[in-house]
Amino acid sequence: MRLSALSPTLFPLLLSLVSGCAPKEEPAQMQQPSLVRDYYQDAKPVLDRYCNGCHSEGGIGHFSLASYSAAKVYGSLIKSQVESGDMPPWPPSSDSLPLRYSRQMAPQDKQILLDWIKDGAQEGDPTAKPRVVIPPAEVPPPPRADLKIDMGVTYQPNKKLSDDYRCFVIDPNPSGTGGMPEDAWVRAGAVKPGNDAIDHHVIVFVIPAASAAAVKKKDADEAGPGYTCLGGPGTNNTSFLIGWAPGGVGVRLPETDGMPVKKGSIFVMQVHYNVHNDNGKGDRTVADLEITKTPPQYLVYSLPFANPDQLKIPAGDADAVQYISVPVGLIIKQLKLPGNEITIQSVTPHMHLLGTQISTMVGNQPLVAIPKWKFHWQQSYLLQEPFVAKSDQVLSLECHYNNSADNQPVIGGVKQTPREVTWGEGTGDEMCLSFIGIRVPRVSP
Ligand code: HEC
Repeated sequence: MRLSALSPTLFPLLLSLVSGCAPKEEPAQMQQPSLVRDYYQDAKPVLDRYCNGCHSEGGIGHFSLASYSAAKVYGSLIKSQVESGDMPPWPPSSDSLPLRYSRQMAPQDKQILLDWIKDGAQEGDPTAKPRVVIPPAEVPPPPRADLKIDMGVTYQPNKKLSDDYRCFVIDPNPSGTGGMPEDAWVRAGAVKPGNDAIDHHVIVFVIPAASAAAVKKKDADEAGPGYTCLGGPGTNNTSFLIGWAPGGVGVRLPETDGMPVKKGSIFVMQVHYNVHNDNGKGDRTVADLEITKTPPQYLVYSLPFANPDQLKIPAGDADAVQYISVPVGLIIKQLKLPGNEITIQSVTPHMHLLGTQISTMVGNQPLVAIPKWKFHWQQSYLLQEPFVAKSDQVLSLECHYNNSADNQPVIGGVKQTPREVTWGEGTGDEMCLSFIGIRVPRVSP
């Protein structure tokens, strides 16, 4: 038997025997046997709470961690991914403002999982009561389905791609005049992904009446349902309504608030399919929207914050930066808002494949800072507490890109050579964009 294999309670006793002394009498409270973590009592509750939403049979996580044998096999990989913070996926850094619905692990839960691996990933007793009890993740009450945003077909993603980005056009009134029959406000919404194995993210955009024909043309011009779209629906003046990413939950605003959807608007639902795990079943994703027709006291909407014309990423530059800023007072003036402050509720940062870091700030305070941008893990972040920005403060956005030879995308099996990259919707284009979700008093027309 190796010394290290002895249980900690035996160890002092053995030492005293070796040194020939009688074991000293010790006060009982000093020698707490240190707890050996096991799967059923300790690790399973942690894995179930933080990992198995994605890492179960048929989930987006590529493999299951939902049984003892699976979790044991992945032990060292779990350790490295959890220690590096890469898993569970939650890109915002801790200097961001506190965010709701975070996937981040509580430090003590992380420690339990690491201790279990350190203790040899033991199984324990399947019938024992869990020692570790973690409150379930917070979920808002689901929306009433007043309006269903439905792709209308089961879409088979393109197997030739590893990632298929598809935009589906949804007209809520296709047989009538087209578009929303009257002004409406969305109070709650939830995306119901159609196939957990391949759905990587979903965004529902509102397309105003003036741009409806343009997206319908894109749909008509491409074979199959919908059209290819990487960044967004590919037209101007769209606004981000609701989104979903694995582990994500729906949205519910307070009774006084609503997200405006103007008469004549249609919707585009963008779905990013990760085809790696394709089970051949296709996807039909639906979003339920709870609608109110009475004008709410406050409007909630997303302002796109960007300076597309100025984005120039030189060929070969390993750390190109775009920094943009705007005084909050100017936003208030342009939107003709009353008062001298804006209330920010959410932040949705967006770049493409060359992006490495992105930070949305007011003054020196990062609202959401992402130090290691991952295109595949983007979503809208809801602030725990709304942030009030005063007219004399400055809203800023800083985006970093790596456009060196090492970091070029592989297209059609060929690694690209660096070229100057500017703003655009395509895979080879970039964006430096943050949707700022604000809440403002509704001014009657
Ligand atoms: C929101 C979904 C999601 C959650 C939650 C999640 N994972 Fe993952 N995990 C993935 C996906 C998807 C991948 C594949 C790589 C990628 O897309 O980043 C992955 C990859 C991994 C890998 C393999 C990494 C590699 O280098 O091959 C490990 C190990 C892992 N996850 C462990 C965990 C653990 C442990 C937890 C919980 C503490 C967890 N994951 C939570 C989705 C998730």
